[in-house]
Amino acid sequence: MGDEKIELLKPKGPAKWNKRSAFILAAIGSAVGLGNVWRFPFVCYENGGGAFLIPYLVAIVTAGIPLMILEFSLGHKMASGAPISFGKAHRKSEWVGWVMVIVGFIITVYYAVIMSWCFNYVFQAVNSLGWGDSPGEFFNQTLLQITDGPGSIGGLSWPLVIGLVLTWGAIYFAIRKGARSVGKVVLLTVPLPWLLLVVMSIRGATLEGSAAGLNYFLNPDWSALLDPGVWLSAYGQVFFSFSLAFGVMITYASYLPRKADINNNAVIISLSDAATSFLAGLTVFATLGFLAQSGHQSVGEVMTAGPGLVFAVYPTIFNQMPFWPGFFAAIFFIMLLLLGIDSAFSLVEAKAEAWITKLGLRRKPTLLVICTIAMLMGLFFATGSGLYWLDIVDNFLNKFGLILGGLFECIVLGWLYGSKKLREYANKQSEIRIGRWWDFLIKYFTPLILIVTFGLDLYRTISEGYGGYPDWAVFVGGWCVVALIFILSFLFSRIRTRKREAADLEGGEADA
Ligand code: PHE
Repeated sequence: MGDEKIELLKPKGPAKWNKRSAFILAAIGSAVGLGNVWRFPFVCYENGGGAFLIPYLVAIVTAGIPLMILEFSLGHKMASGAPISFGKAHRKSEWVGWVMVIVGFIITVYYAVIMSWCFNYVFQAVNSLGWGDSPGEFFNQTLLQITDGPGSIGGLSWPLVIGLVLTWGAIYFAIRKGARSVGKVVLLTVPLPWLLLVVMSIRGATLEGSAAGLNYFLNPDWSALLDPGVWLSAYGQVFFSFSLAFGVMITYASYLPRKADINNNAVIISLSDAATSFLAGLTVFATLGFLAQSGHQSVGEVMTAGPGLVFAVYPTIFNQMPFWPGFFAAIFFIMLLLLGIDSAFSLVEAKAEAWITKLGLRRKPTLLVICTIAMLMGLFFATGSGLYWLDIVDNFLNKFGLILGGLFECIVLGWLYGSKKLREYANKQSEIRIGRWWDFLIKYFTPLILIVTFGLDLYRTISEGYGGYPDWAVFVGGWCVVALIFILSFLFSRIRTRKREAADLEGGEADA
């Protein structure tokens, strides 16, 4: 038997990144997303404006960067997706990885719906600002066909359904060959939206009245710092924005070649994401200042709280732009789309990888099934009550699902497996070295903050509910969803892991 034959039979493992830059771009692509431009500004607004920046920075330093290093070293060392990596680290902890994968799955379901909003806005922008004179009405009535509460489901919005199909088509296309196709797609979807964001920020800063908006963004309201909910939101936002505690970074790191830097990459990726949020904040608030001035209102008044912010408020701004409104509107929403797509496919990739390895499935059919199921589930958020449910689910998943995921991650890896082992592993691989302070953050500091803020906010949510929604809606969309995630995770972790051959040969096939 010749060498060639042996080569063919030998499992090759999942495809790897072909260059270091492919990994960095893909990880930045995953981190930088709607979370920076759509979520960050409204979370910031709801949590005391400028005051939010302080807990946010603290969360970046104490949790964001350290956990990024943690996830990279785990994924790289174990060379597997999240559940199996956790299982290898500690036999009984595979479920922690499944919690991450399932939270990620639900987030992708509504994330794709928001991308579908973007598709519609790009279309309206080139259709000579088709949202007309009152964008708020366009968003709520025409596009979402919003009902009067989560109890009345309403009908499907067809433009949203079409947008959803396009979004899922694009996601499937980008990841069908794993690291190989992702590595190519991100060459476009990462740098381009950045460029567009810079253009938009210059445009925003040069609009009249921008200073008032910036003031609002940068001026702290110190009393907000005493509110544990603000801290919890800050940690939640960092997890969401850095794509941490979703299994994404673990999976992506597992596609790295054996010799690869960990610490340096983690710092580069984290700082790029934080910088993007900051720039997006400047852009959004500067433009809101312009809007406030032209309507003789205060910045606080023109803000629409919640997930509708970028969609209900931004088009008003384009309507009033002195020149090229259609052009700027189109690049703004194209930018959102490009930002979103690589985040969305990183989430799908992380769970696809988990299933493929667990059950020894074939890559392409598995992807097709996952994409189709997620798209069908997304239809629920494309109904008249979709926005309400989206808001509830987003809030609960980020506060409770992610924070708990992050907490268990720290406990399992810091205590049960031993953060020292991972630190030594990361240092052996990397140019910059991390010291004992890292173990301290992973084992004590971050878990403590997470437990305290989680406990306080849990108490508040139980006693006050959330966002003025009826109790039953918060129960169904919030508590039940979180409970379901944990139950499913335990069940999945009990399924026996199949041999990897099938998946490996698939990975090899894609080479041809
Ligand atoms: N980080 C992405 C964003 O900011 C969202 C995301 C979360 C993507 C988790 C992947 C995993 O939009």
